[in-house]
Amino acid sequence: MAVGSIVDFQDGDFRPLRIQGLSVLVGMVRNRYFAISNACPHAGSLLERGSLNGEELTCPRHGAVINVLDGRCVVPEGLPQVPCYQIEVDSGRLYVTV
Ligand code: FES
Repeated sequence: MAVGSIVDFQDGDFRPLRIQGLSVLVGMVRNRYFAISNACPHAGSLLERGSLNGEELTCPRHGAVINVLDGRCVVPEGLPQVPCYQIEVDSGRLYVTV
């Protein structure tokens, strides 16, 4: 599904998008685009309200830290991985597959 253009995202930008009924966080960091679930694996808070430092997104509720490029929970260890979705660039357009 087309979700926008590469010019819509500068380094560190991210925003929630509704894709086929799922809330997906789409963004770009260090010239890599990402699409991950918008729900924190700890207690389900919206990650769209978090803060991004490099590729690590801190959940605003209890401070879990998630790597947006692979969905891995860095802090605390042991939380489930955040679902990641395929994102591709074609002719300047971004496409996400959920
Ligand atoms: S809901 Fe995200 S850290 Fe608790």
